[in-house]
Amino acid sequence: MSEYLAKPLAFPQTMPAGYTALEDEPRFDPERHLQIEMPERVISLAEFGYSDDEITACPTPFGATSVFRLLSDEGAAALLEVAGKLEAFTTSNARIARNVRGGAYRSKFLRDLCLCPEITNAMSQIAGLPLLPHTLPHQLGHLNYNPKVVGENVDKWHVDTLRFDYVMFVTDPKSVEGGEFQYYLGTKEEASDRAKRGKPLDPDRIVSPDMPGPGYAVLQQGNMVVHRAKGLSAPGNRITMVNGYVPQDIRFPDFTRFDQLYMVDPPHCASTEFARHMAWMARERLDGDLATLPFTDDKERLAAQFDEMSALLADTAARLRAAGEVEVEHFGDG
Ligand SMILES: [Fe+2]
Repeated sequence: MSEYLAKPLAFPQTMPAGYTALEDEPRFDPERHLQIEMPERVISLAEFGYSDDEITACPTPFGATSVFRLLSDEGAAALLEVAGKLEAFTTSNARIARNVRGGAYRSKFLRDLCLCPEITNAMSQIAGLPLLPHTLPHQLGHLNYNPKVVGENVDKWHVDTLRFDYVMFVTDPKSVEGGEFQYYLGTKEEASDRAKRGKPLDPDRIVSPDMPGPGYAVLQQGNMVVHRAKGLSAPGNRITMVNGYVPQDIRFPDFTRFDQLYMVDPPHCASTEFARHMAWMARERLDGDLATLPFTDDKERLAAQFDEMSALLADTAARLRAAGEVEVEHFGDG
């Protein structure tokens, strides 16, 4: 099958049990709330130390960007107001002390911001391939809030359970001490190896991009770039937002860590969101086959496409059944 750009999957029409819509919130207006400026620099996966084979296995050689602006002052203020209202719904997991996931169900502002086509187009241009807002609603507009304990990291060293995402400051990073977003100029294998041996990451290769204000972000191939959010060194308010994307060309192998998401999101959301995502992927692959199948006597080739589809569906069923108690993966605080 040649390149096939999937049709987007609509956001669910119904709300999962336990979620209610925010009542009084600002209305997202791209004209007033966006101020998209392209990053000056893009760092390739090769610069992170990945081999040619590892890079070929990824949808793009793109690694991460320098800091760029996404929101206007008015947009940043509106998002801060929404994040304040959503703070009542923070949860904890083994990696993050206080986060809000699934905020895109509760807040129309957050949902409209995360699904905004202007931002999606800009992220596609930067990453070098067409992207769509993530098809799992819990991978949209993830919000991190600083832990109540000063010094405790907001999030440990890790790679993401999705392929592409941007990390954006919601609060003013200049108004607090510490709380930097950091990434590591090394591979995830190196980080994992060091964590297993109890050896900290090489401090000379830890990068803390200078975030000039709220509404500024870094886009990354999140499942390849090792990153973390440092704790505050004095009391303060630090909120960041992470928005996820999937490649629009659905020939790229899926990269959804359902086993991990099942541990951090409510099971009725994680399960059904994953089932919807895989059904979408299967539907789009079949549509892609219908659009591109040539007349051929090579029935082996045709059969192979059906084998691939059966394997995708069987694997989805197996992963749904297998999800249960597993460790939430990270590389620690070192
Ligand atoms: Fe992350």
